[in-house]
Amino acid sequence: MADESYRHPRLAALYDPFNPDRSDLDAYVRAAEEYGAQRVLDIGCGTGVFALLLAERGIDVVGVDPARASLDIARAKPGGARVRWICGDATTLPPLQVDLATMTANVAQAIVDQETWHGTLRGAYDALRPGGLLVFETRDPARRAWEEWNRERSLRVTEVPGVGAVRSWFELIDVSLPLVTFRDTCVFAADGQVLAAESTLRFRGRQEVEQDLLAHGYVVEDVRDAPDRPGRELVFHARRP
Ligand SMILES: C[S@@+](CC[C@H](N)C(=O)[O-])C[C@H]1O[C@@H](n2cnc3c(N)ncnc32)[C@H](O)[C@@H]1O
Repeated sequence: MADESYRHPRLAALYDPFNPDRSDLDAYVRAAEEYGAQRVLDIGCGTGVFALLLAERGIDVVGVDPARASLDIARAKPGGARVRWICGDATTLPPLQVDLATMTANVAQAIVDQETWHGTLRGAYDALRPGGLLVFETRDPARRAWEEWNRERSLRVTEVPGVGAVRSWFELIDVSLPLVTFRDTCVFAADGQVLAAESTLRFRGRQEVEQDLLAHGYVVEDVRDAPDRPGRELVFHARRP
């Protein structure tokens, strides 16, 4: 199940205003071009930013996410009708034959449960045509990103159109590697509502992910850096032979 941040309609509506810079997606658009993808499955599509970018380019896109509130936002965006949205995860997909499957913005880390993680790798494999690629990122655990996650650094006020000012911050709750838990708090100036959501992320290292990919039959073609976050991310390009 997805975290409250993506499932609660009021919190899900903050995802795009809180993340206006999506230059992280440029490398995925380039991957779609590099592999000449005509059909793409975006796993953990959230509010649909990447799926819609591809659909605008004439690519046939399926976006899947377990958070209905995020999918509702995606569906309502301009061009939303061009994408096939599925509420669920990669373990329960209809038959597909895509050229490229993606998990952008560290979706892999949101898949904490190992059974669901392996089910996701299997589901993506089954959805790919032979020769198709799975491309996804995960934070490099060696960089210990969670050490920078604290209230002082994250506190900000965002002016959200139609909502008003939202004060937000996050705090680290627990580090029990490979799991890291933090709490996101949002205070809505318009009515004073305080919403807090806890999230847990799983940090998997390069060797572990490569082994998992091999175990599911993939060939690891490349492990790249994320150009917008140099030295911080591991970006896997894995091919279904
Ligand atoms: C950080 S958001 C990224 C959303 C989107 N990929 C983007 O680039 O904006 C993480 C997403 O992973 C989704 N998620 C959580 N568990 C999942 C699972 N088992 N399968 C697929 N998506 C999942 C959440 O609902 C959320 O939308």
